[in-house]
Amino acid sequence: MSGRSGRALAKSEALICGSITVSMNVQENIQFDQRAFRDAMGCFASAVTVISTTTEDGKAVGTTVNSFNSVSLDPPLVLFCLGREATNYDHFMASGRFAVNILRQDQDHISNGFASDGANFFQTLEAETSSLGNPLIPDTLATFDCKIEATHDGGDHIILIGRVNELRHDPDGDPLVYYRGRYSAVAAKS
Ligand SMILES: Cc1cc2nc3c(=O)[nH]c(=O)nc-3n(C[C@H](O)[C@H](O)[C@H](O)COP(=O)(O)O)c2cc1C
Repeated sequence: MSGRSGRALAKSEALICGSITVSMNVQENIQFDQRAFRDAMGCFASAVTVISTTTEDGKAVGTTVNSFNSVSLDPPLVLFCLGREATNYDHFMASGRFAVNILRQDQDHISNGFASDGANFFQTLEAETSSLGNPLIPDTLATFDCKIEATHDGGDHIILIGRVNELRHDPDGDPLVYYRGRYSAVAAKS
C-alpha cells in the first residue's frame, strides 16, 4: 500500500502475556482491543532510539522510535516502523536516508523531546552531521547511518529498511530501556 492512510491488522492474532490471553480478529471485527495489544507489546522490552533525517531545506528533524531492529548482517540492514501520520513522515520519504541514534540511560529527556516536538528538538542540541548528511545526537550509545533500501506496508505504519553505511558505538555504556510503557534500565543477572 503506497498511501498514508493505514488499515488495521488483517489476520487473527492470539497475544499471550502472563496469564492474560486476548484474541483479535480485525476482519471479522471480533474483540479488537487496542489497549490489550499495547499492554501485551509492552512486555517486549526495547531500547529507545531517535531516528533522524533532514527536511528538503536542510533542517534537522527526528522521531523517538522503539520499533528499531536488525534485519540482515550481509548486507547490513536495519528496520524501523514509522506512523503514517507522523509529522516527519514526508521528510523521511523525501530524503531517502536516516540515522539511528540509540539513547543512553540518562537521555530520557531527549526521548521525550523528540516524541513531543520532533520537528524542532534538534535546535536544543549541538548535532553533528553524518557522512550521508543525517543529523546525529551527541554522546549517544550507538549510531547507524543508513540509506533507505526499501519500504513496506505495515498497516497504520510504514516499515523502512535501511542499509547501514557507517556505524559507531560505545562498548561500555548502558541503554535507555522502554518497558510496560515506562522508561527503565538494564540490570545484569548475577
Ligand atoms: C518510547 C517511545 C517509542 C516510540 N516508538 C515509535 C515508533 O516505533 N514508531 C513511531 O512511528 N512512533 C513512535 N513513537 C511516537 C513518536 O515518537 C511521536 O510521539 C509520534 O510520532 C507523534 O508525534 P508527531 O505527531 O510529531 O509525529 C514512540 C514514542 C515513544 C515515547
